[in-house]
Amino acid sequence: MNKKLLLKVRGLTKQFKVGKKLLTAVSNFNLNVYHGETLGLVGESGCGKSTVGRTILRLLEPTSGTVAFQGTDLSTYSKHEMKKIRRKMQIVFQDPYASLNPRMTVEDIIGEPLDIHHLASGKMRKRRVEELLQLVGLNPNHMSRFPHEFSGGQRQRIGIARALAVEPEFIICDEPISALDVSIQAQVVNLLKELQQQMNLTYLFIAHDLSMIKYISDRVAVMYLGHLVEQATSEELYRNPLHPYTQALLSSIPIPDPDIEKRRNRIVLKGEVPNPLNPPSGCSFCTRCPRAQPICFEKAPEWR
Ligand SMILES: Nc1ncnc2c1ncn2[C@@H]1O[C@H](COP(=O)(O)OP(=O)(O)OP(=O)(O)O)[C@@H](O)[C@H]1O
Ligand SMILES: [Mg+2]
Repeated sequence: MNKKLLLKVRGLTKQFKVGKKLLTAVSNFNLNVYHGETLGLVGESGCGKSTVGRTILRLLEPTSGTVAFQGTDLSTYSKHEMKKIRRKMQIVFQDPYASLNPRMTVEDIIGEPLDIHHLASGKMRKRRVEELLQLVGLNPNHMSRFPHEFSGGQRQRIGIARALAVEPEFIICDEPISALDVSIQAQVVNLLKELQQQMNLTYLFIAHDLSMIKYISDRVAVMYLGHLVEQATSEELYRNPLHPYTQALLSSIPIPDPDIEKRRNRIVLKGEVPNPLNPPSGCSFCTRCPRAQPICFEKAPEWR
């Protein structure tokens, strides 16, 4: 691929102090995101996806490792410079109920980033909010309403409009459809795709299963217990998943044809995701891997 590199993550590690112990939420994580693409980031609940997203945006300080955006290591920026860069990097959150302030009107929710970055005030601000509401398929006449007056899908559109207000280049979509009805999910995914084309956006799209990811992602990265385990183009990953964890994730997607569905081989992983406070030695997947060998319990395999 000779596309332009937008985001380069190297050796990213994030640990949290939990009581007296250290919890490694993300371990030595590497990622490239290219201009204009959608990179899907998939893994079970608690594997560290949101922590990756938040440390990339510097909403959390990484324990170690680097994140470079457009060629510059973000840790070299001052607070003031970081504020300017934040305009280019936005996030849409999983829960459209919790991520919008219930006491603010839609006009102020979407207008707030315009205020913070001094992009528009007065009449211009109002006009820009109208424009953004239209862009995400909402009625501009509803801008004086409060979040509770909207449905889940509509609230997520408000969250998207808020992210778009500052004309970002890169958006982290942190499970933007997981809290929505299945019938609404496709609408929001299609909206994100349309907006990407129109505005030349780059997405990191986080999800906990592989079912929707295929439709939106150019490439997919799979995470398990803080580690990146596989990365491939969407097509390759679905056609020929290499890691046993990816194979299990793929086999758990229901197939809409009842005959195939009956015949297919579901790989059911034994046990549960280990407690990240007490991870297995060796390969992080060894306790659940159908192909584990004695060596896997001693030594993690190298990334290939
Ligand atoms: N602020 C924090 N303090 C302590 N532990 C944390 C903190 N934030 C996250 N963790 C832990 O880090 C791990 C990764 O959490 P994270 O929220 O990144 O997972 P996730 O993959 O986004 O999960 P989900 O799909 O449920 O959103 C979890 O074990 C979580 O309990
Ligand atoms: Mg999360």
